Amino acid sequence: MADATDLRDAGERLGPDELRALQLERLRASLRHAYDHVPFYRESFDKAGVHPEDCRSLPDLAHFPFTTKADLRANYPYGMFAVPRERIRRLHASSGTTGHPTVVGYTDNDLSMWADMVARSLRAAGTRPGDIVHVAYGYGLFTGGLGAHYGAERLGCTVVPASGGMTARQVQLIRDLEPTVIMVTPSYMLTLLDEFERQGVDPRTTSLRAGVFGAEPWTEQMRREIEERFGIDAVDIYGLSEVIGPGVAQECVETKDGLTVWEDHFYPEVVDPITGEVLPDGEQGELVFTSLTKEAMPIVRYRTRDLTRLLPGTARVFRRMEKVTGRSDDMVILRGVNLFPTQIEEIVLRTPGVAPHFQLRLTREGRLDSLTVRAEARPDAPSQTREAAARSIVAAVKDGIGVSVDVEIVDPESLERSVGKIRRIVDLRSRDAG
Ligand code: DLL
Repeated sequence: MADATDLRDAGERLGPDELRALQLERLRASLRHAYDHVPFYRESFDKAGVHPEDCRSLPDLAHFPFTTKADLRANYPYGMFAVPRERIRRLHASSGTTGHPTVVGYTDNDLSMWADMVARSLRAAGTRPGDIVHVAYGYGLFTGGLGAHYGAERLGCTVVPASGGMTARQVQLIRDLEPTVIMVTPSYMLTLLDEFERQGVDPRTTSLRAGVFGAEPWTEQMRREIEERFGIDAVDIYGLSEVIGPGVAQECVETKDGLTVWEDHFYPEVVDPITGEVLPDGEQGELVFTSLTKEAMPIVRYRTRDLTRLLPGTARVFRRMEKVTGRSDDMVILRGVNLFPTQIEEIVLRTPGVAPHFQLRLTREGRLDSLTVRAEARPDAPSQTREAAARSIVAAVKDGIGVSVDVEIVDPESLERSVGKIRRIVDLRSRDAG
């Protein structure tokens, strides 16, 4: 069998010292580019009393101010761009999972670098030139579809641009066109699983060999379910529009031990979500990214709100990030108990008759916060199963997390989706407060 490392590109072959030197050189150029061409960065650096020349080592980055989603919104739509509009070849907008959309832009070189990073990610996932890649991430302003698409083409694959939705047709396409790799959100992969079973087709008999799943947090338990029921390798891909889109970090199929951060292009830090202090590798906190090579929209110390920790490299020279466990702004504190949607997900997943599609609704009665878990029933679940499922989720949340919640099992496909993602948390507490 060919050694996967034979296929590494030039960036992946750097030695650790070469990598650090390249990062510093690129970081200094990127800070200078942002300062010289984006009034927002000039103002924020000046206000913080720092200048691009002050960055003489990688840890010096800690002296520079953060950038947040609110900053991007305040500069909507084109205020964060560092090149004339005519050099912007493409626009995307963030998914709107939380709050209003933000616009991002790419030059020709940015699009090429992005395709390279997705190609690198796909290769790390075990994809090879000649593979047929079924892309079921949404095409459009969301970065998932087109990002995956051009990366798969760059690698030399045949791409099926299925986009999201029309589940029965997706299954038909997989049966007829015989893709070897699928790129899709993990929750939609489970919907496809149900559809295979509804059509009476054993999902283990498909041509699929690997799946590249991301755009939302998912658990080891979901990985096991997908791998076992489809008979494929399931690996994690991470990214966000503000940094590039999918392809910022990717789990390597040979290790499946967290996501390798492509840190020759995206420099990661993990900070304390409250104080903003940089944490040493290995400690959990909020992930922050600085782009090293982007032209259209350089981004400096962007607060992702994603919670993870940085770990030493294994399959590659680059550091890894642990699977994202949640977002610093997604943590629900219910009557003093901290709760992450992923904890509820684990419970929902092991409850018979319930699909892995759920939403948490927070309401306030008097001074007391309540949480209702709304989960979709599996299409075939009889009504007595729904009642039993609701009771079992209530008990499992009480036992496992230590808090009482209400549970409603709703009809299949009835929770609202945006680009294939369900809004995980609906917080109605301020509405109820007055
Ligand atoms: O979701 C980009 C993407 C598309 C990544 C397809 C992977 C695959 P946004 O819509 O801007 O971009 O949402 C970014 O989604 O900050 C995380 O909170 C979450 N997210 C993305 N990938 C993962 C993942 C795309 N693998 C936000 N695990 C990020 C957990 C993820 N969360």
